[in-house]
Amino acid sequence: MRNKQTLRRSGAVIMASLIVILGSLGYIMILAVINGTVGFLCAMGVTFFGAVGIAKAIGETVFLSYDGIIALAVGCGVLRGILRYIEQYSNHYIAFRLLAVLRDKIFGALRRLCPAKLESKQKGSIIAMITSDIETLEVFYAHTISPVCIAVLVSLTVFMVIGLVSSWYLSLVALAGFLTIGIISPLIFSGKLKASGVSYRKEFAECNAYFLDSIKGIQEIVLSGGGEKRENEVNARSDRLLYETKLMKRDITKSGAATELLVSVFIIIALAVGIFLVMGDMLSVGKMIMGTVLVFGSFGPVIAVSALPGNLTQTFASGDRVLNLLSEKPAVSPVENGENMTPGDIIVNNLEFSYDDNTKVLKDISMYAKKGEIIGIVGKSGCGKSTFLKLLLRFWQKDKGDILYSGTDIDKINTDSLLEHVTMVSQVTYLFDETIEDNLRIAKPDATMEELENACKMASVHDFILSLPCGYKTKTGTLGDRLSAGERQRIGLARAFLMGSEWILLDEPTSNVDSINEGIILRSISEQKNKRNIILVSHRESTMAIADRIYCVEEGRMYEQNRK
Ligand SMILES: Nc1ncnc2c1ncn2[C@@H]1O[C@H](COP(=O)(O)OP(=O)(O)OP(=O)(O)O)[C@@H](O)[C@H]1O
Ligand SMILES: [Mg+2]
Repeated sequence: MRNKQTLRRSGAVIMASLIVILGSLGYIMILAVINGTVGFLCAMGVTFFGAVGIAKAIGETVFLSYDGIIALAVGCGVLRGILRYIEQYSNHYIAFRLLAVLRDKIFGALRRLCPAKLESKQKGSIIAMITSDIETLEVFYAHTISPVCIAVLVSLTVFMVIGLVSSWYLSLVALAGFLTIGIISPLIFSGKLKASGVSYRKEFAECNAYFLDSIKGIQEIVLSGGGEKRENEVNARSDRLLYETKLMKRDITKSGAATELLVSVFIIIALAVGIFLVMGDMLSVGKMIMGTVLVFGSFGPVIAVSALPGNLTQTFASGDRVLNLLSEKPAVSPVENGENMTPGDIIVNNLEFSYDDNTKVLKDISMYAKKGEIIGIVGKSGCGKSTFLKLLLRFWQKDKGDILYSGTDIDKINTDSLLEHVTMVSQVTYLFDETIEDNLRIAKPDATMEELENACKMASVHDFILSLPCGYKTKTGTLGDRLSAGERQRIGLARAFLMGSEWILLDEPTSNVDSINEGIILRSISEQKNKRNIILVSHRESTMAIADRIYCVEEGRMYEQNRK
């Protein structure tokens, strides 16, 4: 594939690049982290000041009155609520803004890369990117970066506070707990979690794809009598998916249980160290209570972090794919400061083109098309006829040779101007899930109803549209598969007629219509002849009858056929 990016970034580079994409949302993320950290410390403050009260009651010197202690405990509780609200608000704000920012960036990249990109084999992965990769990244930003930052900040603060108000020995126990639960245990479990997560997702994706494929091809399945076989396969696949789900859930539960167990172990160790220090007269009972209460309540943020690594590998994969797309160079760069189109002839000299660097689809194409002529192009299936038309629209960058519109090479013509003056009806017409009228208006948003109807009459589709339940206002979605290939094709043609471009490229415009409709369409095309340049690709001899001259494509070369 052209411009295929093979570079794989390291986890750190992906993280750094993803944070750069955050842009000004970074400030809101800092706000969320600060609120989360202070909020969690406030939550700990409620029990801590309770412990301070008990310590005072058993004779510890505390420079606070009971009223002051109660006020601080209540204050911490209230503040916790407010800060939690702000933290959640900022995180969700970031999450939804980010979805918008990421989608905007990806669509921006696709605009640069299209249409070549959407013709590539990676079409499926682009759809995956627009949907699941973006969601994964949203989770990364909103639910990964800030928990990690909060865990680090809370752990450091707790470490210092325990040391200052109680004992540095207890601080060290807490620190060992934070490192074990937040880093060592996830590292040990991540390998297993990753493996079961990967096989679950693989099974899930395959099961989904198989099921969707089966639904799309239901007609073929029924016709070939393969229903039972398909059903058995769907059942077998869903059993396998259930099995993988169980394996994954079991691993997640094991790792969760291990985390909880570790928390209990460190709480017991802290208590034992506290009692030991008191017995050795190295710490007063009051300070021991304050220190151990702080240790007890401090594991929340690292527990949250310990649940992350399972997602992180997926996040990196998603991040890498999105970053690849954002940095991909387009197959064709749009021309912006070139010349505008002027009416005239097309001359193509010694044109060469290959999709990838191995096989040349077009080797040496030379032809000309004068204004007022209808040029026919024929050739075997796969010889490069559609490719040639796409090159005339600069959907792809030609390798060698000239495509001259009124003497100006296509690479020097402004892309917007080119697309305004040259239109193509491709072999397959895509209809949006909107009304027929909206589908037509894509070609000319401000067209009057009369213009729409004229274009449809020329394409021999007006009477058909009138026969639909709501005429021009019928939604194509409500028709489902009711529109036949020929009806779609004629709507595509009507779009082209409506657009009124000087050059019209028609790729098999009559392949799916009967001879009566073909006659009407061909007459319309002939009537346009004096006002436009028409290039017509078709296998049908009856269609070629309206061509003034015919070129044949054979083995990458173009020959003018002698006729009459
Ligand atoms: N996006 C693409 N990437 C790589 N190869 C492509 C791409 N599109 C077409 N090809 C290949 O280029 C060759 C020419 O394809 P093209 O669609 O131009 O043929 P065609 O003459 O229009 O055929 P048909 O009469 O069946 O429509 C084929 O071998 C096809 O497989
Ligand atoms: Mg074709």
